Amino acid sequence: MFHWLEKNPFFFASAISIVISFAGLIEILPNFAKAGRPLVDMTPRTVLQLAGKNVYMKDNCMACHSQMIRPFKSETDRYGKYSLSGEYAYDRPFLWGSKRTGPDLHRIGNYRTTDWHEEHMKDPAKIVPGSIMPAYTHQFTNIADIETAYAEAVTVKNVFHTPYGPGIKSGKAAWEAYKPTVLAEAKKIAADMKDERVKSAMAEGKVPEVVALIAYLNSLK
Ligand code: HEC
Repeated sequence: MFHWLEKNPFFFASAISIVISFAGLIEILPNFAKAGRPLVDMTPRTVLQLAGKNVYMKDNCMACHSQMIRPFKSETDRYGKYSLSGEYAYDRPFLWGSKRTGPDLHRIGNYRTTDWHEEHMKDPAKIVPGSIMPAYTHQFTNIADIETAYAEAVTVKNVFHTPYGPGIKSGKAAWEAYKPTVLAEAKKIAADMKDERVKSAMAEGKVPEVVALIAYLNSLK
């Protein structure tokens, strides 16, 4: 019945490509939809964690660290479950990174603690002998910009419908009302830290960068 098709190689080849492309699209397209869809039990990052993510980007941690665990045994043995696309749904931008001078950090919150990070950020080589990671002592005195992080949360809520609660909305008054929530979260992190500069800044109602950064690192799970 299809003799005419078999005798016409050009047409036959085109017909095969159409069939294969169609089948391919059916496999590939759902993945695009999935990438933008958060996992069921996922919540967006808190304002403090967002501020920490901004510190991470400003200090260019992604130049040396990836946040993407590949589905290989060598990786899952070391870092834990491999990364799923939906886990990045609320990350704007996502920080997959492209280079691993240091280890992957996508689930660092599962196996490092606040006090470990505090000492490590101050002097990596003291905690991990031979480490080539630079020290980030300025993060103990620089103050994190939590107000900008709040504005970002408001923006992604309005533009992308990221599910932030009713407390996060436009306007100076809304920010003033929300600020104590951010400071309370920062206090919990700082309670596990020893640095005197951190303690005195927190006492003045200011959040040092390192506190926000650690809140962010702890949220990577
Ligand atoms: C020049 C490359 C480089 C940069 C930039 C860098 N790191 Fe690292 N990092 C490393 C290396 C190498 C290690 C492994 C040795 C160690 O633990 O110190 C590491 C280790 C770590 C670890 C421990 C990981 C583990 O599994 O134990 C954390 C957490 C970390 N870095 C966070 C950061 C953060 C946050 C920043 C940005 C503020 C940053 N790093 C910037 C190179 C870097």
